[in-house]
Amino acid sequence: MTVKGLKGFKDVLPNEVHLWQHIENTARKIFHRFGFSEIKVPILEKTELFARSIGEATDIVEKEMYTFPDRNDISVTMRPEGTASVLRAYIEHGMHVLQSGQRLYTIGPMFRYERPQKGRLRQFHQMSVEAIGSGHPRVDAEVMAMAWTLMEALSLNVSLEINSLGCRECRPEFKKALVEFLDKRQDKVCADCNRRSKTNPLRVLDCKSENCQQQYVDAPSILDHLCGSCEDHFLEVREGLELLGIHYSVNSRMVRGLDYYTRTTFELITNDLGAQNAVGAGGRYDGLLEQLGGQDKPGVGFAVGMERLVLLVNEDIIKAEKRKPDVFLITLGEDAARKGFSLMHGLRGQGAKVSMDHDGRSMKSQMKLADKHGARYVIILGEDELANNEALLKNMVSGEQETVALSDDMGTCCTGIYERIRVRTINT
Ligand code: HAM
Repeated sequence: MTVKGLKGFKDVLPNEVHLWQHIENTARKIFHRFGFSEIKVPILEKTELFARSIGEATDIVEKEMYTFPDRNDISVTMRPEGTASVLRAYIEHGMHVLQSGQRLYTIGPMFRYERPQKGRLRQFHQMSVEAIGSGHPRVDAEVMAMAWTLMEALSLNVSLEINSLGCRECRPEFKKALVEFLDKRQDKVCADCNRRSKTNPLRVLDCKSENCQQQYVDAPSILDHLCGSCEDHFLEVREGLELLGIHYSVNSRMVRGLDYYTRTTFELITNDLGAQNAVGAGGRYDGLLEQLGGQDKPGVGFAVGMERLVLLVNEDIIKAEKRKPDVFLITLGEDAARKGFSLMHGLRGQGAKVSMDHDGRSMKSQMKLADKHGARYVIILGEDELANNEALLKNMVSGEQETVALSDDMGTCCTGIYERIRVRTINT
């Protein structure tokens, strides 16, 4: 019997890898533009790190972590998210000495024992960013603007929802009001909500049951309970987004599955992925560094889920790929194959995607191969063409064909062909 992969753990096959690379490359460029540097952190950490940051009473820590004792009986966990590890590394390597703060991002696999479904896996990948060192509300707006820039660069249609969860001062007041409200509805809501109203009351607002949601229609709003400085902070975050022309809506019901957030939280929401509608999410976590034993420095960040992005960008990227000059070189005979071989290399150097057959197939089978490759152009080098030092360039979409001169100077010759293809590709 064959051994199959684990449920919720997915192979990324060669026909998908280009999407992953495109998304990562696009993100890296944008992150660098906003002053972020990459950090690579381990997959395995002491369990305590996540319990202390994400929170003991969260679903992640209570029931979703891959936790086990190592051979020395130390409890270790495969990271369920990136923020805790990045902050641990920040503290461990004394990065706080940089006065201006640190902007870090990490890309890699995360692990949560969730019920797998479309866009939800047990091993998934995040691009996670952290801006550490400033509590200024404009940094919240800047970080959201970076997420927004990435969505735009990937041509994704998402909306930005924001909220404030208050701080150590005002959140307890809100929790108290919420618990009083929930106490009166114990017999009307699900068992999970009743349990959560004791352990982590804010999370009830996130219950997926429609019946519970109906009960919470007039639940107290956190925004009515913010202290003066949280209220000012939230106003300035909104002002920052408005200055940058970024559209958002306020969702006072947004609560996050991680306990470390203070003040601003946000989510990038899509309508195209069913229940898993968050493409990315994040917020501010002032106090978390201190909680992990570091200096008390504020921070704000977010993570986007690669698998969800891949599901969404698919169509757009394939269309963009098609717009790239894409050539299949058909050669007949050894002399043509040799000329074609250097032509292929030269065209690749210009930026075109080029393939050819090396196995002396017939014209007909090479045409079939070109079709299979989805090539927009074929360049045919047969005996006649070779004798006249030219090639036949055929547009596979329009059927048009033309003869192009080949000179002995391969560089000039490739530039000429590439320009012809490129201009026509852009215009079609
Ligand atoms: P999170 O909301 O738990 O936040 O995850 C962020 C994103 O990761 C989600 O919006 C989603 O796109 C993706 N994601 C989460 N779980 C799964 C899953 N099981 N399968 C596929 N994709 C998933 C965090 O992890 C925070 N550390 C974000 C952050 C960074 N906050 C501040 N800095």
